[in-house]
Amino acid sequence: MTSPLEDFQELAELAERIAHLAGAHVLSLIGGDNARLALRDTADRKTSATDLVSTADHASEAVIVAQLAIARPRDGIVAEEGSTRPSTSGISWVIDPIDGTTNFLYGHGSFGVSIAAVRDGETIAGVVYDPLRRETYRAARGFGASCNGRKLTIGSPTPLAEVLLGTGFHYLASRRRRQAELLVTILPEVRDIRRQGAAALDLCYVASGRLDAYYEAALQPWDRAAGLLVAQEAGYVGVDLDLGGELDGTLLVAHPDLLEQIRDLIVRANELHR
Ligand code: IPD
Ligand code: CA
Ligand code: CA
Repeated sequence: MTSPLEDFQELAELAERIAHLAGAHVLSLIGGDNARLALRDTADRKTSATDLVSTADHASEAVIVAQLAIARPRDGIVAEEGSTRPSTSGISWVIDPIDGTTNFLYGHGSFGVSIAAVRDGETIAGVVYDPLRRETYRAARGFGASCNGRKLTIGSPTPLAEVLLGTGFHYLASRRRRQAELLVTILPEVRDIRRQGAAALDLCYVASGRLDAYYEAALQPWDRAAGLLVAQEAGYVGVDLDLGGELDGTLLVAHPDLLEQIRDLIVRANELHR
């Protein structure tokens, strides 16, 4: 079983190599607008009419799973588009083959490949790769986080009124309604809101300073595992807020000195609109 700390970095290196292969493959599938439109036209719906999955998502997942089967045949797989394999090593890989599928299919820039290694419920290595921007966010537990090899370090806390706050909306209409209601209270209190459409990148952007904080309800393990480790290893903190009902399990990630204020704002917004 892998246990020495240095192995976490090897896992991160492997995740990076595989994310680059998958990202290159995804880009090769959208050579022109027509290819992208064809992918969109043939996309399936998953949990709701708004929740798309294309052949590119499946193709990216196939690349990642095949590479992991060669490099780490005893590790488990938990992947968004359905690939699963039990672990006999104690390590499993949590995979979002394209995070930001809607952006990808509509020609918006923000999408990425997210790959994390998890052991005993703890993420030990993670990579989020944005193939259009050619940005690789990478973290290994205990070894810090980087973007394209540049170490990510925590900045100063931003006053609440100047916070650029990222969030996202779930695919279920009833949960979206609650998420929109909270924004009525939150938006006037901060600099602005960003709904970028790729949770894994949102988390990395807290680490790199493109967002001051980020929150979202009901993320799946593949949306958050790698990006959360990147944010944590850069010095930011993540908490799961129990807001009740459809907003239970709302992840909030922020500077440690800002966390309480944003948590209070979200909790207040939730109580006002319950
Ligand atoms: C979605 C994106 C989106 C977030 C959703 C996710 P997908 O992932 O990360 O930003 O708001 O909660 O499900 O479907 O593009 O992999
Ligand atoms: Ca996702
Ligand atoms: Ca996805």
